[in-house]
Amino acid sequence: MSKLWGGRFAKQTDQLVEEYTASITFDKELVYEDIQGSLAHVKMLGKCGIIPQDDVDTIIEGLHKVRHMIDRGEVEFSIADEDIHMNIEKTLTEKVGAVGGKLHTGRSRNDQVALDMHLYLRKRVVEFVDYIVKLQEALLDQARANTDTIFPGYTHLQRAQPILFAHHLLAYVAMLQRDAERLMDSYKRIDMLPLGAGALAGTTFPIDRHFVAAELNFGRIYDNSLDAVSDRDFIVEFLANSSLIMAHLSRLSEELVLWMSTEFDFVELDDAFCTGSSIMPQKKNPDVAELVRGKTGRVYGNLVGLLTVLKALPLAYNKDMQEDKEGMFDTVRTLQGALQLFAPMIATMKVNKDVMRQAVNEDFSNATDIADYLAAKGLPFRKAHEVIGKIVLYCIEQKKYLLDLSLDEYLQFSKLFDESIFQVLQPESVVNARNVFGGTAKNQVLQAIERADEQLRSARDWVDHIAKIIR
Ligand code: ARG
Repeated sequence: MSKLWGGRFAKQTDQLVEEYTASITFDKELVYEDIQGSLAHVKMLGKCGIIPQDDVDTIIEGLHKVRHMIDRGEVEFSIADEDIHMNIEKTLTEKVGAVGGKLHTGRSRNDQVALDMHLYLRKRVVEFVDYIVKLQEALLDQARANTDTIFPGYTHLQRAQPILFAHHLLAYVAMLQRDAERLMDSYKRIDMLPLGAGALAGTTFPIDRHFVAAELNFGRIYDNSLDAVSDRDFIVEFLANSSLIMAHLSRLSEELVLWMSTEFDFVELDDAFCTGSSIMPQKKNPDVAELVRGKTGRVYGNLVGLLTVLKALPLAYNKDMQEDKEGMFDTVRTLQGALQLFAPMIATMKVNKDVMRQAVNEDFSNATDIADYLAAKGLPFRKAHEVIGKIVLYCIEQKKYLLDLSLDEYLQFSKLFDESIFQVLQPESVVNARNVFGGTAKNQVLQAIERADEQLRSARDWVDHIAKIIR
């Protein structure tokens, strides 16, 4: 069968060229968006009197039939028809006859494909915010269960100051909150109608873009026809936002992998989220966390890939732009997997509170607090820092921790010490002393949980609201 654009051609397309230029193997993912866009377009053609209402009705009925056939797996897409747009138009025409050819009036594949991508990403953004909220909920539940769990806080992966484990988990809730907010903000730029731009310059038909926008519930319409068909910024943004989500999941993954090791033994991931070794019977590997960490690379790659496609690309449409799809679909699949698995993996994670507590008992992470203690008694902080450095060195030589020393030993280093130092050095005191907004004191952490809960509520409301609009 000849090509939809075959009129100007005297020869057949080379077989390898056909395979090389076709996108149907991957853009078939846009099948429902393509039909949705065509339905709105053809309704508009009828309403504006551009094609007779009878033809509109035939085409609408035909498109619904094509959708049912696709649902039942009855449509065989073909490389000869290049992409999803032409495959659907061809199937439609086979169903309803030559009138199907009127569907493409006043439209180009250039504005059509842009529309499909906007429709597709609108759904993905809402879906991703929903996944993020579910992961935040799991982290928040673990935080609630660990507001008394003292855990070593690290800098340089060296024990630094004791913190509440809840406080550590809340840091991830905050990172994910920014991710959700970025996605919600990007929605504004995804929620724009490009259709009506034609190939690049608009169309000679008296179309009504506002009607199509209302039909598809788009908040805005592209102002400039060239920009409408050339813009892929909204996909770049989506890939950049996805990259940051993966960066965050990857950092958490790395911590989980460390905490699962015998050396740390801080947490145990549920059997359902780990795998074994084919040779070492004792192994229980945190594969999901490792794989999320590993898959972060491909998401970054997809971002850099698309940025590079767009660099120095002249206006308006160029075939290069077909390269916007595979990386996007791959990113969507990668994030769907990671976010969906992370929520239950965190929810079922067992926290070894005693091991964390024991770790804090056997380190010098309360050293800052004695320095603060002397500084509060009037010794310049730099001087106090030096005194405590000497005390720590003394402890290391004596194989003792700060709480093991007697008051006499403390007094050898400074006359400012008294019995109260032993209370100050208790891990609970150390944690609760950081009673500033955003600090690790229990009372601050409880308030932070409340604030996070409120943020989740508003993200959930946003998801419900937008889900209704794009349905
Ligand atoms: N398959 C194409 C793409 O994904 C659709 C647009 C084709 N437009 C064109 N003038 N060849 O970019």
